[in-house]
Amino acid sequence: MAEANSRAEALIQSVTKKPGDYSPGLEGVVAARSRLCQIDGAAGKLYYVGYAIEDLVQNSSFEEICFLLWYARLPRIDELENLQKQFREYRALPAEATTFIELLPHTSHPMDALRTVVSLLSTFDTNPEKSPEANLHRAIRLTAQFPTIVATFHRLRQNQKPILPHPKLSHAANFLYMLFGKEPEEMVGKVMDASLILHADHEMNASTFGSLVTASTLSDIYSAVSSGVGALKGPLHGGANEAVLKMLQEIEDPKNVDTWVEQALAKKQKIMGFGHRVYKNYDPRARIFKEYARRLSEKTKFSRFFQVNDKLEQVMQARKGQQGIFPNIDLYSGIVYHQLGIPTDLFTPIFAIARVAGWTAHILEYWQDNRLFRPNAIYDGPGPRPYVAAARR
Ligand code: SDX
Repeated sequence: MAEANSRAEALIQSVTKKPGDYSPGLEGVVAARSRLCQIDGAAGKLYYVGYAIEDLVQNSSFEEICFLLWYARLPRIDELENLQKQFREYRALPAEATTFIELLPHTSHPMDALRTVVSLLSTFDTNPEKSPEANLHRAIRLTAQFPTIVATFHRLRQNQKPILPHPKLSHAANFLYMLFGKEPEEMVGKVMDASLILHADHEMNASTFGSLVTASTLSDIYSAVSSGVGALKGPLHGGANEAVLKMLQEIEDPKNVDTWVEQALAKKQKIMGFGHRVYKNYDPRARIFKEYARRLSEKTKFSRFFQVNDKLEQVMQARKGQQGIFPNIDLYSGIVYHQLGIPTDLFTPIFAIARVAGWTAHILEYWQDNRLFRPNAIYDGPGPRPYVAAARR
C-alpha cells in the first residue's frame, strides 16, 4: 500500500503547477483556501471539516452534514433538531413553481428542469437582504427544496399528482416518499441518506468551482447554484453515474467486459466511473457505495450489473491501474439507485440534491473573503493589424 501511495504521490506532484504556468483545465492550480473539505488523493482519503467520510456515513445524517458544512462544526442536539425543523418547514414549493413545473416539457432532462426551477425560485425571493445570515437562510431553504423540485418534476412528467412533502420524515426518506408515494423501508432510507452524505461536498470540483466563479462577481446565491447545477450535469462530472448505467446495459454480461474495454480504449473513449483529477487511488466513496451495491444485489435481481461492474473493475485495474486510474464515486452509485428503483435520469439530480449543501457552504465561506475570479489566457492569435473593408478581403 505504501508503494501505491508513493506512486500516487509522485503522480500528484507531477501535475501540481507553479503560479504563471498555463495548466489546461487548471490542473494542479490552487484556486482558494477552505476549511470545509480535505482530499488526500494519493491515499484515497476524504474528510469534511476533519471528520473522515467513513465515520460520517456510519454515524451521521445528511442534515447533520449540512450543519457541519455551513457552520464548520458538528451541531449540538438542539441545533440539529432546529435545522431538521427548518428543512421540514421549507420543503414545500410556492404553488406557482409547481404550476410552472407542470408547463415544462415532460421530455426535459431532470437536470434542465432543476436548473430552470432554481432560477425561477430566485424571482420569488423579494428579500433585498444580502447579509451572511440572509444568504445562509437561502442556502437552507434551497437545500430543503431541491428534493421537492426533482420529485415534483418526476411525478408531473408521468402525469401523476405531485406528493406533498412528508411532515415528519428525514430529508432522504422524504425524497423517496415524494418520488414513490410511500414511506421507504428503514434500510432504503439509510442508503439514500448515506448517498447524500457521500455526495455532499468534494473540495474544488468543477461544479463547486463554477458556482464560486459566479458568486465571486457578487451575483446572488441562486445564480451561483444554477451555475453549479449546469456544471454538474456534464458526463465528465456528475453526469457519469447516469452514463455508467448505460454502459453496464450496453456491456450486459461479465463475459463481454474484456472485449468491450479493449474496443473502448482503442477508440480513446473514457470509461465512465473511472479516473479522477485528484484521486490517484481508489475513491473512498466508491468503496462505500460498492458495499451497498453488493448488499442490495444480494436482495434484488440486478446482481448481473454488479457482476459486470466488478469484472470491469478488475479489467481496468489491470489495464489502467498503473496510470492512477481507479474507480470513482460514480461507478457504483448508479447501480445502488437502480436497485432502489430510481430512473436513470434522476441519478445526477440526486447528486445535486446532496451537492447543493457543498456549493452553498463554499459560496458562504468564499464571500467572507471574496475576490473576483479572473484568470488570464495565453494569447495565440495574430499580432495587431489594420482593418480591411469587406470589399477588399
Ligand atoms: C466526479 O473533481 C471532483 O471532485 C469530481 C467528483 C465530485 O465529487 O465532485 O469526484 C465527482 O465528477 C467523479 C468523476 C466522474 N467522471 C467520470 O467517471 C468520467 C470518466 N472519467 C474521466 O473523464 C476522467 O478520469 C476525469 C474527467 C474524471 C478526470 O480526467 P483528467 O484529470 O482531466 O484526466 P485526463 O482526461 O487528462 O486523463 C489523463 C489520462 C489520459 O490518458 P493519456 O491521453 O494521457 O494516455 O488518463 C486517461 C486519459 O485518456 N484516462 C482515462 C480515464 N480517465 C482518464 N482513460 C480511460 N477511462 C477513463 N475513465
